[in-house]
Amino acid sequence: NAQLDYPSNRLANIADLTINEPVDIEYPDAESPGILLKLGQAVEGGVGPDGDIVAYSVLCPHKGWYLTYNAEDRSLNCPGHFSRFDAEVGGQQIWGHATQNLPQFTLRVDDKGDIYAEGCSDLIFGRPSNVL
Ligand code: FES
Repeated sequence: NAQLDYPSNRLANIADLTINEPVDIEYPDAESPGILLKLGQAVEGGVGPDGDIVAYSVLCPHKGWYLTYNAEDRSLNCPGHFSRFDAEVGGQQIWGHATQNLPQFTLRVDDKGDIYAEGCSDLIFGRPSNVL
């Protein structure tokens, strides 16, 4: 069945976020770590009043190493084999061995400023399906 049922999980409130300081999250479940990030300028897939809040998996699509965020160039970087992904353009791969872009979580903000994850753009590393 291609139709996946994603959970709607509250990640944080807009008031919890500081520009360019990632917050650790898990989505769609506890085995899938990610970051929630306010970039300070509108970007692809960005939500909130400034269109600048995004979230990504931090499991490298190549072999599942944990990515680290580089605040200077707003990229996610793999210590395994050095793949790099751009947080400002939907997790697009900048360089490296991965054969897909970084999974971006689909976000929604309600009228109280609560941020929910409700989907995912690409397959999370190591999974036959994003929702198990
Ligand atoms: Fe990230 Fe290989 S696991 S580049």
